[in-house]
Amino acid sequence: MSEPKKLYIKTYGCQMNVYDSERMAETLGGQGYVETQSPDDADMILLNTCHIREKAAEKVYSELGRFKGLKAEKPDLKIGVAGCVAQAEGEEIMRRQPLVDLVVGPQSYHRLPEMEAKTREGAKALDTDFPEEDKFEKLKNRPKAKRGPTAFLTVQEGCDKFCAFCVVPYTRGAEVSRPVDRIVREAQDLVERGVREITLLGQNVNAYHGAGPNGDMTLAGLIWELNKVDGLERIRFTTSHPNDMADDLIEAHGTCEKLMPYLHLPVQSGSDRILKRMNRSHTAESYLRLIERIRAARPDIVMSGDFIVGFPEETDEDFQATMDLVEQIKYGYAYSFKYSTRPGTPAAERSQVDPGVADDRLQRLQGLITRHQREIQDAMVGRKVRVLFEKTGRLPGQMVGKSEYLHSVHVSDADVEIGALRDVLIIGSGANSLAGQLL
Ligand code: 5AD
Ligand code: SF4
Repeated sequence: MSEPKKLYIKTYGCQMNVYDSERMAETLGGQGYVETQSPDDADMILLNTCHIREKAAEKVYSELGRFKGLKAEKPDLKIGVAGCVAQAEGEEIMRRQPLVDLVVGPQSYHRLPEMEAKTREGAKALDTDFPEEDKFEKLKNRPKAKRGPTAFLTVQEGCDKFCAFCVVPYTRGAEVSRPVDRIVREAQDLVERGVREITLLGQNVNAYHGAGPNGDMTLAGLIWELNKVDGLERIRFTTSHPNDMADDLIEAHGTCEKLMPYLHLPVQSGSDRILKRMNRSHTAESYLRLIERIRAARPDIVMSGDFIVGFPEETDEDFQATMDLVEQIKYGYAYSFKYSTRPGTPAAERSQVDPGVADDRLQRLQGLITRHQREIQDAMVGRKVRVLFEKTGRLPGQMVGKSEYLHSVHVSDADVEIGALRDVLIIGSGANSLAGQLL
């Protein structure tokens, strides 16, 4: 038997890329590849790239440049670029960096086996189409390997919202939802392999409208279907848009026992003027009212969000409005970014905020968010939470898991296995995690 070929995948960006990389590894497994953790002994290197922020394309070119020596030593080594930079740059990648053999956009991963075969014949392979078929259905060549207790499952891809700063509608294409039965089958398969918590993924996941037995189903409908899957204990979803937060989804947060009390709902800014320029089609006030309704349905829910500071033409007053909104909501987690220009998006043409001013705003916003995050975490001390244990900790005998609120919780000297779901009393709060005691 010949040695298996080795595949090295480096993943950048969001959880959807992590999910896609797993699927790519599985499908190339069918071509005789096994994964390796090092590019040095690889027969194929794939960079699964992200284009959401910063100088993404330039970073990819400099990373590719580093493989020159390897390729010279090993002419049979194949190098591929996948993900959103592949989609955005296309053929340009092969022109600028001739050592690249394969360029594949996020909607074409099911075509990787043919593309790989083409590169083995010495040709270049490029595919950045937006085909109609469900790539995940074609990618389901998955071995029945055992899995950890948590997994991602992509249910929806693409976005029709066209926020003025964002590349996703261009790189991931129009919004497409997968049918309910395929998602349920995939969830059952994950559970058989040891998974107990599934995070449903989509760039705009709450716009989900996949085909169900009686017409299209909403995300809430899908969650209720998954709630019936035996052995699945927890459901989460990310990322959502405020305008797609439908009544049935809000209600599910109050009534669906497997749906966890944590919601990532990006608002981006607290200024109506900036929100309008961002093409967000909601206001700070409508967002606040929405959160009130969500909290009425599930009072203990922990909120999370995304913010952009230094969006073109953002004034001190606009930024203050963001700080005021954050002060009112108090996020348990939030991610804040300095605006960075994405060529081809409407905001790229507008007058930019001074970088020093934007840096200062980012620091102030992050300071406030960290304070709230810490207060919410500290308030968990003395409370009973339920923890899904995911791994061993740094210290001997320590086990680490996540509470329903997504806080990281560690317990010491506990007789508990990975995958166990146990009640824990929170006894301490550290910088990034909680200490607990099994009950
Ligand atoms: N600049 C800065 N942040 C951005 N994001 C998306 N595009 C940009 C950009 N051009 C942020 C948004 C989004 C998160 C995934 O990334 O906050 O919600
Ligand atoms: Fe990008 Fe999200 Fe806006 Fe869609 S809703 S354009 S993915 S920021």
